[in-house]
Amino acid sequence: MRAEGNPQGGVVLAVAEVSVSFGGIRALHQVSLEARAGGVTGLIGPNGAGKTTLFNVITGLEKPTQGRVGLGGTDLSGMPPHRRARLGMARTFQRLEVFGSLSVRDNILTGAEFHRSWSRHADDPGSVTEEILDRIGLRAVADLRVDAIPTGMARLVELGRALATRPRLLLLDEPGSGLDENESEELGRLLVDLGEAGMAVLLVEHDVDLVMRISERVFVLDFGRIIASGSSSEVQANPDVRAAYLGTQPADVDDPSGPGGGGA
Ligand SMILES: Nc1ncnc2c1ncn2[C@@H]1O[C@H](COP(=O)(O)OP(=O)(O)OP(=O)(O)O)[C@@H](O)[C@H]1O
Ligand SMILES: [Mg+2]
Repeated sequence: MRAEGNPQGGVVLAVAEVSVSFGGIRALHQVSLEARAGGVTGLIGPNGAGKTTLFNVITGLEKPTQGRVGLGGTDLSGMPPHRRARLGMARTFQRLEVFGSLSVRDNILTGAEFHRSWSRHADDPGSVTEEILDRIGLRAVADLRVDAIPTGMARLVELGRALATRPRLLLLDEPGSGLDENESEELGRLLVDLGEAGMAVLLVEHDVDLVMRISERVFVLDFGRIIASGSSSEVQANPDVRAAYLGTQPADVDDPSGPGGGGA
């Protein structure tokens, strides 16, 4: 799926030495990473490593005690989440955030309308919504309420709503949870396509196989620190990464959390 050594575009997201503390707990310690246009960047790490906290810092929901986040060269310090969204940032949540009483189509439409509310160049929200329904493969369930479809599918709805804002940076917090093997294959293909279309995708996912398969570059977070980064093969061969995943072989570093993982 991924062309090895495929050159990526410019840096879209730059995280520089970000630290966050919750009381006495240091959730992130001088974390630096970047995500480039034109491909998927993977972010993996055991439960509690700080992945969601980092997403919250990037999107402006959490203020770092130190460090900076930049989007396309703009320093985002102190900028509230909605302004970051206008600059082209969209995310999905580990704990699904969808409008359960609205249809699949209307959930996506909210993203497209939101986009039009600030962009004079936005396409017609109705046509954007129809295009995305096809792209994420949910046309058959477009008229169903989101609380009536399986969680895995609802995650795709949330992804569709994010795409409807036409982001240049897409942050996905465990989009694969609740998907079966075929669905997660399809998700992988979709993310690769989005990358090839020029988007920067930052993917947090416990399905390490999926991350390794589709990411141009992978960062590994452990106890709030980046312990490794590089190509999938470099990261898989890294002894610190293997140790963080409890000494398992690189081939089966899949879902370090075991059953019941997730949370926050
Ligand atoms: N609002 C908060 N207040 C206090 N502690 C928090 C808060 N949010 C996260 N933490 C703590 O910060 C650390 C990092 O949590 P975070 O949710 O970012 O990890 P994660 O890598 O996303 O984990 P998971 O894989 O389980 O989703 C954990 O120790 C967590 O308990
Ligand atoms: Mg998390």
